[in-house]
Amino acid sequence: MVSVKNVALIQNEPYTPGLSREYVAQKFGIALNEIAKLGSAENPLGPSPKAAAAVEKARAKIDLYPDWTSQALRAAIATKYGFDPECVVCGAGETEVISSIIRTYAQAGDPVLMYEPCFPIYHMFAENEGRVPVYVPMGADFSFVIDKYIAKLKEAGPKIAFLTNPHSPTGRFMEERDIRAICEATGKETLIVLDEAYIHFTQTQGSMHLLREFSNLIALRTFSKAFGLAGLRLGFGIAANKDLITPLLNIKPTWNLGHMQVEGGIAAIADDEHVNKTVDMIVEMRAYVTKQMFGLNRVRMVPGSRSNFFLIELTDPRLDSTAAFEELLKRGVIVKDGSVSFRGLGKRYLRCDVSQKVHMDRLVRALKEIDANGAG
Ligand SMILES: Cc1ncc(COP(=O)(O)O)c(C=O)c1O
Repeated sequence: MVSVKNVALIQNEPYTPGLSREYVAQKFGIALNEIAKLGSAENPLGPSPKAAAAVEKARAKIDLYPDWTSQALRAAIATKYGFDPECVVCGAGETEVISSIIRTYAQAGDPVLMYEPCFPIYHMFAENEGRVPVYVPMGADFSFVIDKYIAKLKEAGPKIAFLTNPHSPTGRFMEERDIRAICEATGKETLIVLDEAYIHFTQTQGSMHLLREFSNLIALRTFSKAFGLAGLRLGFGIAANKDLITPLLNIKPTWNLGHMQVEGGIAAIADDEHVNKTVDMIVEMRAYVTKQMFGLNRVRMVPGSRSNFFLIELTDPRLDSTAAFEELLKRGVIVKDGSVSFRGLGKRYLRCDVSQKVHMDRLVRALKEIDANGAG
């Protein structure tokens, strides 16, 4: 029998995903269409229709092995951003690319740098096989303290340094001069990973052009957010320095993407109309919910999100994120309990998506009730 002693991989904690509508509907007896799903930062407008049609068409090929490097998708991504296909690696979501990067570029005992709090996959995958996450605490109201990040970078000499722009769970935007300052301060022995999963919602082009300046920089993007394809599982890494990408291709599971993912991705990346429509809606609703949340006494929105989610702070010490999370669930509102989902965030925060007006109204109604009655 296999015992714990036989497991070579160290896995301290499982990932805690946002809850599904079905789970909440069943547990609390709420109709599915009455539930605001605000815990997974998906696209409330659904997939790009062009991508959905391409996936449907690609079904005809599922008896055949796909190309093992997803060459056609890599070429489409490379053309879109002005690089060679050899500069791109695709994965089953960014999550798979992050896994390949950590396994390729850091060994047991090696430090891996990141802000705290951050996307938990960075430290979870780092800890697998015994790498050591090194955290940089954030400043007041979750500002990036760049000097501290650079000091830690120099002190720890990490094999990999993660940056997320806009950041999760805060949604804060890192100015390009700060990304550049970090890249300039980084020695060649450190790989910098710039995760731009949510970059569309900042209404900027992001910082992929820095790839041409820094040969130890990889940028990551996902199809799960603005493209609306979280269920298809598709993401990519891109670097101007092809030598960073080749080992990632070799280490990834060989046929990691099927025909439907590849064809869906090619159609999605060409569908600017769907992305623009999504971004316009999110930006409008981000402003709307910000206004609607003014005037609450025991709860506030942490300001400054440029993403499709924001942090809610429970300012009354008698409130607690797990109790508030449960109170929201009972009212058909799914968010993320910061104390469960983000290491180091503590018991005072919820992460909540920006979504359509009906869902924002449902959220604000529920928050007003908690504000008036308390939960904790
Ligand atoms: C910051 C960040 N990066 C990457 C991802 C991974 O996205 P996916 O694996 O769906 O591409 C997420 C998912 O929520 C995220 O929040």
